[in-house]
Amino acid sequence: MTNANKQLAILGASGQGKVVADLAEQLGYKIRFYDDAYPSKTRIEHWSISGTLDDLLECDVNTFEVIVAIGNNAIRKEKSLILEQSQFTFAKLIHPSAVVSQYAKISVGSVVFAGAVINAFAEIGKGCIINTASIVEHDTKVGDFSHICPNTALAGAVKIGECCWVGIGSQVKQMITVGEHTLIGAGSVVVKSLPANVTAYGIPAVIIKSDN
Ligand SMILES: CC(C)(COP(=O)(O)OP(=O)(O)OC[C@H]1O[C@@H](n2cnc3c(N)ncnc32)[C@H](O)[C@@H]1OP(=O)(O)O)[C@@H](O)C(=O)NCCC(=O)NCCS
Repeated sequence: MTNANKQLAILGASGQGKVVADLAEQLGYKIRFYDDAYPSKTRIEHWSISGTLDDLLECDVNTFEVIVAIGNNAIRKEKSLILEQSQFTFAKLIHPSAVVSQYAKISVGSVVFAGAVINAFAEIGKGCIINTASIVEHDTKVGDFSHICPNTALAGAVKIGECCWVGIGSQVKQMITVGEHTLIGAGSVVVKSLPANVTAYGIPAVIIKSDN
């Protein structure tokens, strides 16, 4: 699928911005960057930055779709809600090599990177990052603004809350629930449900820190 002549404004000119720009161009979008570091930062790689979020908010909402490419879940949420309130249309970017079931649902503002697999009846909330080669199995729900890092596997019927971070290479056993704003460290194996607002890691994952 291509999006010939479609334009995309990417908010966030950092590492996440670069990979989102690369994907969007592969999907046929013409892109422009916005970042609050403008005008002290005017370029990212070969792309120029057009302005700040405030500049973007002054644009006609019909000119382009938008996506927030900021790795920090809370900031991605904050900026997305501002753009949503201003009636911008969010893109949904899915890499051509990702395998997405016809019965899966992916909400707007989310990005699915190369080699990811999203199986039947999985649901991905808005503003999520489903990163390279990650697996979201059947019936699993990923809450809004969560990040499933590269090479992570969520087994069937897992529930990941809003604004969670599932670290690179982690595995989450079937039917597990992870509360909102919880961070699972890299390379963890989650075999018991986790509450909201904690950091857990290890094999098996244990709670290391709680903000409750
Ligand atoms: C869990 C995490 C947030 C902790 O970060 P931190 O608070 O800065 O922790 P530190 O790096 O200071 O490490 C503190 C201790 O925890 C250990 N530790 C940190 N992360 C760990 C992990 N994922 N698994 C096992 N042990 C871990 C460290 O070895 C260190 O142990 P020590 O005190 O015996 O030396 C971080 O290590 C992590 O895993 N982040 C996810 C990274 C990721 O997925 N990136 C992908 C981007 S796409």
